[in-house]
Amino acid sequence: MQGYQFFMPKPRGKITISCKLFCLQRYLTCVNSQPKRRVLLKPFLNQKHLPYSFTMTTQSAIQSQHKATHRYVPTTSTPISPEKVAALLAAEWKLFTKNTGASEVESKRAFNTMPLGVTSSFQHWDPYPISIVSAKGAYMTDVDGRQLLDLSMGFGAMLAGHLNPIVVEEIQTSLNQGMLFVTPSPTSTDAAERICKRFGIDQVRFTNSGTESTMYAVRVARSATEKMGILKIEGGYHGSYDPFVVSAKPPVDQAGKAEKPTPYIEPNLVPGDIYVVPFNNISALEKMFKKNAKKIACFIVEPVLENLAIVLPDAGYLERVRELCDQYNVVLIFDEVKTGLTAGARGAAARLGVKPDLITLAKSIGGGLPLAAFGGKKKYMDIVTNGKMAHFGTFNGNPLAMAGIRAMDRICTDEAMARAEELNLQALTRIDEIIREYQLPAHTVGFGVKGCVTWSTTPVRNYRDYKATDFGVAEAHWLFALNRGIITPPGLDEQWLISLAHGQMEIDILVEDFREFAIAIRS
Ligand SMILES: Cc1ncc(COP(=O)(O)O)c(C=O)c1O
Repeated sequence: MQGYQFFMPKPRGKITISCKLFCLQRYLTCVNSQPKRRVLLKPFLNQKHLPYSFTMTTQSAIQSQHKATHRYVPTTSTPISPEKVAALLAAEWKLFTKNTGASEVESKRAFNTMPLGVTSSFQHWDPYPISIVSAKGAYMTDVDGRQLLDLSMGFGAMLAGHLNPIVVEEIQTSLNQGMLFVTPSPTSTDAAERICKRFGIDQVRFTNSGTESTMYAVRVARSATEKMGILKIEGGYHGSYDPFVVSAKPPVDQAGKAEKPTPYIEPNLVPGDIYVVPFNNISALEKMFKKNAKKIACFIVEPVLENLAIVLPDAGYLERVRELCDQYNVVLIFDEVKTGLTAGARGAAARLGVKPDLITLAKSIGGGLPLAAFGGKKKYMDIVTNGKMAHFGTFNGNPLAMAGIRAMDRICTDEAMARAEELNLQALTRIDEIIREYQLPAHTVGFGVKGCVTWSTTPVRNYRDYKATDFGVAEAHWLFALNRGIITPPGLDEQWLISLAHGQMEIDILVEDFREFAIAIRS
Protein backbone atom coordinates (compact mmCIF):
# COMPACT_ATOMS: atom_id res chain seq x y z
CA MET A 1 0.00 0.00 0.00
CA GLN A 2 1.33 3.40 -0.89
CA GLY A 3 2.02 5.50 2.19
CA TYR A 4 2.00 9.25 2.42
CA GLN A 5 5.23 11.02 1.76
CA PHE A 6 6.87 13.30 4.21
CA PHE A 7 6.00 16.58 2.59
CA MET A 8 7.68 19.09 4.84
CA PRO A 9 9.64 21.63 2.85
CA LYS A 10 13.22 22.28 3.94
CA PRO A 11 13.72 25.34 6.16
CA ARG A 12 14.73 28.34 4.09
CA GLY A 13 15.63 30.96 6.65
CA LYS A 14 13.37 33.92 7.46
CA ILE A 15 9.81 33.92 6.24
CA THR A 16 6.73 36.00 6.83
CA ILE A 17 3.97 34.40 8.86
CA SER A 18 0.62 36.09 8.96
CA CYS A 19 -1.23 35.88 12.24
CA LYS A 20 -4.82 36.70 13.10
CA LEU A 21 -6.10 37.32 16.57
CA PHE A 22 -9.77 37.52 15.94
CA CYS A 23 -11.29 34.10 16.08
CA LEU A 24 -11.15 32.92 19.68
CA GLN A 25 -14.35 34.26 21.20
CA ARG A 26 -16.69 34.00 18.26
CA TYR A 27 -17.77 30.44 18.76
CA LEU A 28 -20.10 29.14 21.40
CA THR A 29 -19.27 25.89 23.06
CA CYS A 30 -22.00 23.32 23.28
CA VAL A 31 -21.82 19.56 22.97
CA ASN A 32 -19.00 18.98 20.48
CA SER A 33 -18.62 22.74 20.13
CA GLN A 34 -20.85 23.09 17.13
CA PRO A 35 -20.55 26.69 15.94
CA LYS A 36 -23.86 28.55 15.62
CA ARG A 37 -22.93 30.00 12.30
CA ARG A 38 -25.61 32.59 11.72
CA VAL A 39 -25.48 33.85 15.28
CA LEU A 40 -21.74 34.10 15.15
CA LEU A 41 -21.54 35.96 11.89
CA LYS A 42 -22.64 39.18 13.55
CA PRO A 43 -19.75 39.58 15.98
CA PHE A 44 -17.47 38.60 13.13
CA LEU A 45 -18.82 41.43 10.99
CA ASN A 46 -18.58 43.93 13.84
CA GLN A 47 -15.09 43.14 14.97
CA LYS A 48 -12.06 45.02 13.75
CA HIS A 49 -9.86 42.31 12.33
CA LEU A 50 -6.46 43.72 11.73
CA PRO A 51 -4.09 41.03 10.56
CA TYR A 52 -0.48 41.62 11.37
CA SER A 53 2.71 40.00 10.30
CA PHE A 54 5.86 39.00 12.07
CA THR A 55 8.88 37.08 11.02
CA MET A 56 10.09 33.77 12.30
CA THR A 57 12.18 31.00 10.88
CA THR A 58 10.55 28.11 9.13
CA GLN A 59 12.56 25.80 11.38
CA SER A 60 10.62 26.86 14.44
CA ALA A 61 7.34 26.99 12.53
CA ILE A 62 7.51 23.43 11.32
CA GLN A 63 7.18 20.30 13.40
CA SER A 64 7.85 16.89 11.99
CA GLN A 65 4.81 14.67 12.00
CA HIS A 66 4.46 10.92 11.72
CA LYS A 67 5.57 9.64 8.32
CA ALA A 68 2.27 7.85 7.59
CA THR A 69 0.51 11.21 7.48
CA HIS A 70 0.30 14.20 5.15
CA ARG A 71 0.85 17.82 6.09
CA TYR A 72 2.18 20.44 3.79
CA VAL A 73 2.78 23.90 5.23
CA PRO A 74 3.85 26.45 2.60
CA THR A 75 6.70 28.75 3.53
CA THR A 76 5.05 31.96 2.34
CA SER A 77 1.54 33.38 2.35
CA THR A 78 -0.37 36.63 2.26
CA PRO A 79 -3.09 37.47 4.81
CA ILE A 80 -6.72 37.40 3.70
CA SER A 81 -8.62 40.59 4.31
CA PRO A 82 -11.18 39.99 7.10
CA GLU A 83 -13.51 42.45 5.43
CA LYS A 84 -13.38 40.27 2.32
CA VAL A 85 -14.23 37.20 4.39
CA ALA A 86 -17.13 38.99 6.06
CA ALA A 87 -18.49 40.22 2.71
CA LEU A 88 -18.18 36.76 1.16
CA LEU A 89 -19.91 35.16 4.14
CA ALA A 90 -22.79 37.65 3.96
CA ALA A 91 -23.27 37.00 0.23
CA GLU A 92 -23.05 33.23 0.68
CA TRP A 93 -25.61 33.15 3.52
CA LYS A 94 -27.97 35.10 1.26
CA LEU A 95 -27.45 32.52 -1.49
CA PHE A 96 -27.95 29.71 1.02
CA THR A 97 -31.38 30.95 2.12
CA LYS A 98 -32.39 31.64 -1.49
CA ASN A 99 -31.68 28.05 -2.59
CA THR A 100 -32.89 26.06 0.40
CA GLY A 101 -36.52 27.09 0.98
CA ALA A 102 -37.77 23.51 1.46
CA SER A 103 -35.07 22.83 4.09
CA GLU A 104 -36.25 25.90 5.97
CA VAL A 105 -39.86 24.67 5.93
CA GLU A 106 -38.76 21.21 7.04
CA SER A 107 -36.65 22.67 9.85
CA LYS A 108 -39.59 24.74 11.15
CA ARG A 109 -41.76 21.62 11.21
CA ALA A 110 -39.09 19.56 12.99
CA PHE A 111 -38.62 22.25 15.66
CA ASN A 112 -42.12 21.44 16.97
CA THR A 113 -41.22 17.93 18.08
CA MET A 114 -37.43 17.91 18.48
CA PRO A 115 -35.14 20.40 20.24
CA LEU A 116 -33.40 22.38 17.48
CA GLY A 117 -35.38 20.28 14.99
CA VAL A 118 -32.67 17.60 14.87
CA THR A 119 -31.94 14.16 16.34
CA SER A 120 -28.39 15.08 17.44
CA SER A 121 -27.42 18.65 18.38
CA PHE A 122 -24.42 18.35 16.13
CA GLN A 123 -26.72 18.36 13.07
CA HIS A 124 -28.01 21.86 13.69
CA TRP A 125 -26.71 25.16 12.42
CA ASP A 126 -28.31 28.58 12.17
CA PRO A 127 -30.45 29.59 10.42
CA TYR A 128 -31.32 25.93 9.63
CA PRO A 129 -29.52 22.86 8.30
CA ILE A 130 -30.06 21.12 4.95
CA SER A 131 -32.64 18.36 5.15
CA ILE A 132 -31.83 15.18 3.19
CA VAL A 133 -34.33 12.74 1.68
CA SER A 134 -32.08 10.09 0.13
CA ALA A 135 -28.47 9.11 -0.57
CA LYS A 136 -26.72 6.74 -2.96
CA GLY A 137 -23.04 6.24 -3.69
CA ALA A 138 -21.25 9.55 -3.09
CA TYR A 139 -24.32 11.77 -3.44
CA MET A 140 -27.28 12.91 -1.33
CA THR A 141 -30.51 14.57 -2.45
CA ASP A 142 -32.02 17.31 -0.31
CA VAL A 143 -35.66 18.32 0.14
CA ASP A 144 -35.13 21.11 -2.41
CA GLY A 145 -34.30 18.43 -4.99
CA ARG A 146 -30.61 19.37 -5.20
CA GLN A 147 -27.99 16.70 -5.65
CA LEU A 148 -25.09 17.20 -3.23
CA LEU A 149 -21.68 15.58 -3.36
CA ASP A 150 -21.29 14.05 0.09
CA LEU A 151 -17.82 14.56 1.52
CA SER A 152 -19.04 14.11 5.07
CA MET A 153 -20.18 10.50 4.61
CA GLY A 154 -21.73 10.19 8.06
CA PHE A 155 -18.53 11.32 9.84
CA GLY A 156 -16.85 8.25 8.36
CA ALA A 157 -19.68 5.77 8.98
CA MET A 158 -20.46 5.69 5.25
CA LEU A 159 -16.91 4.74 4.23
CA ALA A 160 -18.29 2.14 1.82
CA GLY A 161 -20.60 4.69 0.16
CA HIS A 162 -24.35 5.12 0.55
CA LEU A 163 -26.31 1.92 -0.12
CA ASN A 164 -23.18 0.00 -1.07
CA PRO A 165 -24.50 -3.15 -2.82
CA ILE A 166 -22.46 -5.48 -0.59
CA VAL A 167 -23.82 -3.83 2.57
CA VAL A 168 -27.36 -4.08 1.19
CA GLU A 169 -26.81 -7.74 0.26
CA GLU A 170 -25.51 -8.67 3.73
CA ILE A 171 -28.41 -6.84 5.40
CA GLN A 172 -30.87 -8.66 3.15
CA THR A 173 -29.27 -12.01 4.06
CA SER A 174 -29.54 -11.06 7.71
CA LEU A 175 -33.20 -10.05 7.42
CA ASN A 176 -33.98 -13.48 6.02
CA GLN A 177 -32.63 -15.01 9.24
CA GLY A 178 -34.21 -12.81 11.91
CA MET A 179 -33.87 -9.38 13.54
CA LEU A 180 -32.72 -10.00 17.10
CA PHE A 181 -31.97 -13.16 19.09
CA VAL A 182 -30.42 -11.82 22.35
CA THR A 183 -28.59 -15.17 22.51
CA PRO A 184 -25.15 -16.26 21.34
CA SER A 185 -25.10 -16.73 17.57
CA PRO A 186 -22.59 -17.79 14.93
CA THR A 187 -23.15 -14.37 13.30
CA SER A 188 -21.72 -12.50 16.31
CA THR A 189 -18.82 -14.95 16.70
CA ASP A 190 -18.01 -14.55 13.00
CA ALA A 191 -18.09 -10.73 13.32
CA ALA A 192 -15.87 -10.83 16.45
CA GLU A 193 -13.34 -13.03 14.63
CA ARG A 194 -13.25 -10.60 11.70
CA ILE A 195 -12.72 -7.56 13.95
CA CYS A 196 -10.04 -9.24 16.11
CA LYS A 197 -8.11 -10.39 13.04
CA ARG A 198 -8.35 -7.08 11.21
CA PHE A 199 -7.40 -4.84 14.16
CA GLY A 200 -4.91 -7.23 15.75
CA ILE A 201 -6.70 -7.52 19.10
CA ASP A 202 -7.33 -10.57 21.30
CA GLN A 203 -10.97 -10.01 22.22
CA VAL A 204 -13.84 -7.66 21.50
CA ARG A 205 -17.33 -6.81 22.76
CA PHE A 206 -19.95 -5.05 20.60
CA THR A 207 -21.97 -2.01 21.64
CA ASN A 208 -24.31 0.37 19.83
CA SER A 209 -22.41 3.67 19.89
CA GLY A 210 -18.96 5.14 20.28
CA THR A 211 -20.05 6.70 23.56
CA GLU A 212 -20.90 3.30 25.02
CA SER A 213 -17.60 1.85 23.83
CA THR A 214 -15.41 4.57 25.32
CA MET A 215 -17.38 4.41 28.58
CA TYR A 216 -16.90 0.64 28.89
CA ALA A 217 -13.23 0.81 27.91
CA VAL A 218 -12.66 3.24 30.77
CA ARG A 219 -14.52 0.97 33.19
CA VAL A 220 -12.35 -1.96 32.13
CA ALA A 221 -9.26 0.14 32.83
CA ARG A 222 -10.61 1.20 36.22
CA SER A 223 -11.39 -2.38 37.19
CA ALA A 224 -8.02 -3.63 35.97
CA THR A 225 -5.92 -1.02 37.76
CA GLU A 226 -8.23 -0.39 40.73
CA LYS A 227 -7.63 3.31 40.10
CA MET A 228 -10.45 5.73 39.27
CA GLY A 229 -8.78 8.68 37.49
CA ILE A 230 -9.08 9.33 33.75
CA LEU A 231 -6.53 11.28 31.72
CA LYS A 232 -7.60 12.84 28.44
CA ILE A 233 -6.34 15.35 25.92
CA GLU A 234 -7.47 18.97 26.05
CA GLY A 235 -9.89 19.36 23.12
CA GLY A 236 -10.34 15.59 22.81
CA TYR A 237 -13.86 14.30 22.12
CA HIS A 238 -14.84 10.76 23.07
CA GLY A 239 -18.64 10.91 23.25
CA SER A 240 -21.15 11.93 25.89
CA TYR A 241 -20.10 10.04 29.05
CA ASP A 242 -19.59 12.69 31.75
CA PRO A 243 -15.78 12.54 32.08
CA PHE A 244 -15.30 12.86 28.31
CA VAL A 245 -17.27 16.07 28.06
CA VAL A 246 -14.71 17.69 30.37
CA SER A 247 -12.43 19.99 28.33
CA ALA A 248 -13.90 18.67 25.05
CA LYS A 249 -13.89 22.21 23.68
CA PRO A 250 -13.14 24.48 26.64
CA PRO A 251 -13.21 28.27 26.41
CA VAL A 252 -9.49 29.07 26.35
CA ASP A 253 -9.78 31.93 28.84
CA GLN A 254 -11.16 29.49 31.45
CA ALA A 255 -8.87 26.56 30.75
CA GLY A 256 -5.61 27.54 32.42
CA LYS A 257 -2.15 27.51 30.90
CA ALA A 258 -1.47 25.85 27.53
CA GLU A 259 1.25 23.66 29.05
CA LYS A 260 -0.81 22.74 32.08
CA PRO A 261 -4.51 23.04 31.25
CA THR A 262 -7.08 22.91 34.02
CA PRO A 263 -10.07 20.61 33.40
CA TYR A 264 -13.07 22.63 32.24
CA ILE A 265 -16.20 21.09 33.79
CA GLU A 266 -19.64 22.17 32.63
CA PRO A 267 -22.18 22.51 35.47
CA ASN A 268 -24.29 19.47 34.49
CA LEU A 269 -21.38 16.99 34.69
CA VAL A 270 -20.29 14.59 37.42
CA PRO A 271 -16.99 13.60 35.84
CA GLY A 272 -15.15 11.97 38.74
CA ASP A 273 -11.37 12.23 38.95
CA ILE A 274 -10.38 13.74 35.60
CA TYR A 275 -7.03 15.05 34.34
CA VAL A 276 -6.19 16.89 31.11
CA VAL A 277 -2.96 17.29 29.14
CA PRO A 278 -2.14 19.00 25.84
CA PHE A 279 -1.65 16.76 22.78
CA ASN A 280 1.90 16.31 21.44
CA ASN A 281 3.46 17.39 24.71
CA ILE A 282 5.54 14.63 26.30
CA SER A 283 6.97 16.76 29.05
CA ALA A 284 3.45 17.72 30.22
CA LEU A 285 2.50 14.03 30.19
CA GLU A 286 5.59 13.03 32.16
CA LYS A 287 4.89 15.69 34.77
CA MET A 288 1.25 14.55 34.95
CA PHE A 289 2.23 10.92 35.48
CA LYS A 290 4.95 11.76 38.01
CA LYS A 291 2.41 13.62 40.12
CA ASN A 292 -0.83 11.67 39.56
CA ALA A 293 -0.17 8.23 38.03
CA LYS A 294 -1.09 6.51 41.29
CA LYS A 295 -4.64 7.77 40.75
CA ILE A 296 -4.89 7.50 36.94
CA ALA A 297 -6.41 4.31 35.49
CA CYS A 298 -6.16 5.18 31.81
CA PHE A 299 -5.07 7.64 29.20
CA ILE A 300 -7.68 7.90 26.44
CA VAL A 301 -6.56 9.56 23.22
CA GLU A 302 -7.36 9.54 19.52
CA PRO A 303 -4.07 8.50 17.85
CA VAL A 304 -4.77 11.24 15.30
CA LEU A 305 -7.13 13.91 16.64
CA GLU A 306 -10.08 14.01 14.27
CA ASN A 307 -12.36 16.26 16.24
CA LEU A 308 -10.15 19.35 15.81
CA ALA A 309 -10.08 19.06 12.00
CA ILE A 310 -7.04 16.75 11.77
CA VAL A 311 -4.21 17.09 14.28
CA LEU A 312 -1.32 14.72 13.63
CA PRO A 313 0.92 13.18 16.27
CA ASP A 314 4.50 14.44 16.13
CA ALA A 315 6.99 11.82 15.05
CA GLY A 316 7.74 9.72 18.14
CA TYR A 317 4.91 11.10 20.28
CA LEU A 318 2.71 8.00 20.39
CA GLU A 319 5.72 5.73 20.91
CA ARG A 320 6.74 7.74 23.97
CA VAL A 321 3.14 7.78 25.22
CA ARG A 322 3.18 3.97 25.03
CA GLU A 323 6.42 3.79 27.05
CA LEU A 324 5.20 6.17 29.72
CA CYS A 325 1.87 4.34 30.13
CA ASP A 326 3.81 1.10 30.66
CA GLN A 327 6.19 2.77 33.08
CA TYR A 328 3.39 4.24 35.20
CA ASN A 329 0.88 1.37 34.99
CA VAL A 330 -1.68 3.42 33.08
CA VAL A 331 -3.94 1.64 30.55
CA LEU A 332 -3.53 3.18 27.09
CA ILE A 333 -6.84 3.46 25.21
CA PHE A 334 -6.80 4.49 21.57
CA ASP A 335 -10.17 5.91 20.64
CA GLU A 336 -10.47 4.82 17.00
CA VAL A 337 -14.13 5.76 16.64
CA LYS A 338 -13.16 8.36 14.02
CA THR A 339 -9.97 6.85 12.63
CA GLY A 340 -10.79 3.11 12.44
CA LEU A 341 -10.96 1.86 8.87
CA THR A 342 -10.66 5.39 7.49
CA ALA A 343 -7.02 5.31 8.66
CA GLY A 344 -6.29 2.24 6.54
CA ALA A 345 -7.45 -1.35 6.26
CA ARG A 346 -6.25 -2.20 9.80
CA GLY A 347 -6.90 1.06 11.61
CA ALA A 348 -4.71 3.83 12.95
CA ALA A 349 -2.81 1.87 15.60
CA ALA A 350 -1.43 -0.55 13.00
CA ARG A 351 -0.83 2.28 10.55
CA LEU A 352 1.15 4.29 13.09
CA GLY A 353 2.88 1.27 14.61
CA VAL A 354 1.89 1.74 18.25
CA LYS A 355 -0.20 -0.88 20.06
CA PRO A 356 -2.63 0.34 22.71
CA ASP A 357 -4.02 -1.83 25.52
CA LEU A 358 -7.62 -1.21 24.45
CA ILE A 359 -9.23 0.30 21.39
CA THR A 360 -12.71 1.67 20.77
CA LEU A 361 -14.31 1.39 17.35
CA ALA A 362 -17.55 2.65 15.78
CA LYS A 363 -18.67 4.53 12.64
CA SER A 364 -16.61 3.04 9.76
CA ILE A 365 -16.70 -0.60 10.95
CA GLY A 366 -20.49 -0.89 10.54
CA GLY A 367 -21.18 0.08 6.92
CA GLY A 368 -23.67 2.71 8.12
CA LEU A 369 -25.44 0.61 10.75
CA PRO A 370 -25.46 1.71 14.40
CA LEU A 371 -22.63 -0.40 15.74
CA ALA A 372 -19.55 0.03 17.89
CA ALA A 373 -17.04 -2.08 19.78
CA PHE A 374 -14.34 -2.05 22.42
CA GLY A 375 -11.59 -4.60 22.71
CA GLY A 376 -7.90 -5.24 23.07
CA LYS A 377 -5.48 -7.35 25.05
CA LYS A 378 -6.94 -10.46 26.72
CA LYS A 379 -5.37 -9.42 30.00
CA TYR A 380 -7.79 -6.46 30.09
CA MET A 381 -10.81 -8.11 28.47
CA ASP A 382 -10.50 -10.80 31.18
CA ILE A 383 -12.01 -8.16 33.46
CA VAL A 384 -15.30 -8.76 31.60
CA THR A 385 -14.79 -12.55 31.67
CA ASN A 386 -14.20 -12.69 35.42
CA GLY A 387 -17.15 -10.41 36.15
CA LYS A 388 -15.14 -7.58 37.70
CA MET A 389 -16.89 -5.41 35.14
CA ALA A 390 -20.09 -6.72 33.61
CA HIS A 391 -20.99 -5.48 30.16
CA PHE A 392 -24.66 -5.52 29.10
CA GLY A 393 -26.80 -4.38 26.19
CA THR A 394 -30.00 -5.69 24.60
CA PHE A 395 -28.94 -4.81 21.08
CA ASN A 396 -25.25 -5.69 21.43
CA GLY A 397 -24.14 -7.76 18.44
CA ASN A 398 -27.60 -7.76 16.84
CA PRO A 399 -27.63 -9.64 13.52
CA LEU A 400 -28.28 -6.51 11.44
CA ALA A 401 -25.19 -4.80 12.85
CA MET A 402 -23.15 -7.97 12.38
CA ALA A 403 -24.18 -7.89 8.70
CA GLY A 404 -22.53 -4.46 8.54
CA ILE A 405 -19.26 -5.91 9.88
CA ARG A 406 -19.32 -8.80 7.38
CA ALA A 407 -19.94 -6.35 4.56
CA MET A 408 -17.15 -3.94 5.58
CA ASP A 409 -14.76 -6.84 6.00
CA ARG A 410 -15.50 -7.89 2.41
CA ILE A 411 -15.36 -4.31 1.06
CA CYS A 412 -12.30 -2.85 2.81
CA THR A 413 -9.56 -4.79 1.07
CA ASP A 414 -6.00 -3.44 1.03
CA GLU A 415 -6.46 -2.64 -2.67
CA ALA A 416 -9.77 -0.77 -2.23
CA MET A 417 -8.39 1.29 0.67
CA ALA A 418 -5.16 2.07 -1.20
CA ARG A 419 -7.16 3.34 -4.19
CA ALA A 420 -9.27 5.66 -2.03
CA GLU A 421 -6.17 6.86 -0.21
CA GLU A 422 -4.42 7.64 -3.49
CA LEU A 423 -7.40 9.75 -4.54
CA ASN A 424 -7.27 11.55 -1.21
CA LEU A 425 -3.56 12.22 -1.61
CA GLN A 426 -4.20 13.52 -5.11
CA ALA A 427 -6.84 15.95 -3.76
CA LEU A 428 -4.49 17.11 -0.99
CA THR A 429 -1.52 17.70 -3.28
CA ARG A 430 -3.61 19.52 -5.90
CA ILE A 431 -5.08 21.74 -3.16
CA ASP A 432 -1.51 22.35 -1.92
CA GLU A 433 -0.75 23.74 -5.38
CA ILE A 434 -3.74 26.09 -5.24
CA ILE A 435 -2.76 27.27 -1.75
CA ARG A 436 0.70 28.07 -3.10
CA GLU A 437 -0.61 29.71 -6.28
CA TYR A 438 -2.96 32.03 -4.35
CA GLN A 439 -0.59 32.45 -1.40
CA LEU A 440 -3.35 31.44 1.00
CA PRO A 441 -2.62 31.42 4.75
CA ALA A 442 -3.55 27.76 4.96
CA HIS A 443 -2.23 24.23 4.74
CA THR A 444 -3.55 20.74 4.10
CA VAL A 445 -3.55 17.83 6.51
CA GLY A 446 -4.41 14.24 5.65
CA PHE A 447 -4.55 10.81 7.20
CA GLY A 448 -5.82 7.71 5.42
CA VAL A 449 -8.84 8.67 3.36
CA LYS A 450 -9.50 11.88 5.29
CA GLY A 451 -8.26 15.37 4.66
CA CYS A 452 -8.82 19.00 5.51
CA VAL A 453 -7.64 22.52 4.83
CA THR A 454 -6.45 24.18 8.03
CA TRP A 455 -6.51 27.97 7.96
CA SER A 456 -3.22 28.52 9.69
CA THR A 457 0.29 29.21 8.43
CA THR A 458 1.84 27.01 11.08
CA PRO A 459 1.16 23.37 11.93
CA VAL A 460 -1.66 22.77 14.40
CA ARG A 461 -0.32 20.44 17.10
CA ASN A 462 -2.84 20.81 19.91
CA TYR A 463 -6.14 22.40 20.97
CA ARG A 464 -4.69 25.87 21.60
CA ASP A 465 -3.14 25.94 18.11
CA TYR A 466 -6.49 24.84 16.68
CA LYS A 467 -8.33 27.62 18.51
CA ALA A 468 -5.94 30.14 16.94
CA THR A 469 -6.82 29.08 13.37
CA ASP A 470 -8.98 31.32 11.23
CA PHE A 471 -12.56 30.14 11.79
CA GLY A 472 -13.98 32.96 9.64
CA VAL A 473 -12.30 31.74 6.43
CA ALA A 474 -13.03 28.13 7.40
CA GLU A 475 -16.72 28.95 7.67
CA ALA A 476 -16.68 30.83 4.36
CA HIS A 477 -14.99 27.84 2.67
CA TRP A 478 -17.56 25.40 4.09
CA LEU A 479 -20.52 27.56 3.06
CA PHE A 480 -19.10 28.36 -0.40
CA ALA A 481 -18.82 24.61 -1.09
CA LEU A 482 -22.29 23.90 0.32
CA ASN A 483 -23.83 26.51 -1.98
CA ARG A 484 -22.15 24.81 -4.93
CA GLY A 485 -23.42 21.33 -4.16
CA ILE A 486 -20.71 19.93 -1.89
CA ILE A 487 -21.61 18.92 1.63
CA THR A 488 -18.78 18.61 4.14
CA PRO A 489 -19.46 18.01 7.85
CA PRO A 490 -21.25 20.86 9.61
CA GLY A 491 -18.61 21.31 12.31
CA LEU A 492 -15.50 23.27 11.41
CA ASP A 493 -13.76 20.69 13.58
CA GLU A 494 -14.40 17.95 11.02
CA GLN A 495 -12.72 16.78 7.82
CA TRP A 496 -13.64 15.43 4.37
CA LEU A 497 -13.81 11.72 3.67
CA ILE A 498 -12.96 10.11 0.33
CA SER A 499 -15.16 7.03 0.51
CA LEU A 500 -14.98 3.94 -1.64
CA ALA A 501 -17.80 5.42 -3.73
CA HIS A 502 -15.79 8.53 -4.67
CA GLY A 503 -13.86 8.53 -7.94
CA GLN A 504 -11.78 10.85 -10.09
CA MET A 505 -14.80 13.02 -10.96
CA GLU A 506 -15.55 13.70 -7.29
CA ILE A 507 -11.91 14.57 -6.59
CA ASP A 508 -11.99 17.03 -9.51
CA ILE A 509 -15.16 18.62 -8.08
CA LEU A 510 -13.55 18.99 -4.63
CA VAL A 511 -10.34 20.49 -6.01
CA GLU A 512 -11.96 22.82 -8.55
CA ASP A 513 -14.40 24.10 -5.94
CA PHE A 514 -11.40 24.98 -3.76
CA ARG A 515 -9.84 26.84 -6.70
CA GLU A 516 -13.07 28.81 -7.18
CA PHE A 517 -13.06 29.65 -3.49
CA ALA A 518 -9.43 30.82 -3.71
CA ILE A 519 -10.33 33.05 -6.66
CA ALA A 520 -13.36 34.46 -4.79
CA ILE A 521 -11.42 35.18 -1.61
CA ARG A 522 -8.61 36.88 -3.55
CA SER A 523 -10.85 38.82 -5.95
C1 LIG B 1 -13.36 10.06 18.75
C2 LIG B 1 -14.80 9.82 19.11
N1 LIG B 1 -15.08 9.01 20.13
C3 LIG B 1 -16.37 8.73 20.49
C4 LIG B 1 -17.41 9.29 19.80
C5 LIG B 1 -18.82 9.00 20.20
O1 LIG B 1 -19.41 8.18 19.23
P1 LIG B 1 -20.99 8.10 19.10
O2 LIG B 1 -21.44 9.37 18.47
O3 LIG B 1 -21.23 6.89 18.25
O4 LIG B 1 -21.54 7.93 20.46
C6 LIG B 1 -17.15 10.15 18.72
C7 LIG B 1 -18.25 10.75 17.95
O5 LIG B 1 -18.06 11.52 17.04
C8 LIG B 1 -15.81 10.42 18.37
O6 LIG B 1 -15.49 11.24 17.37
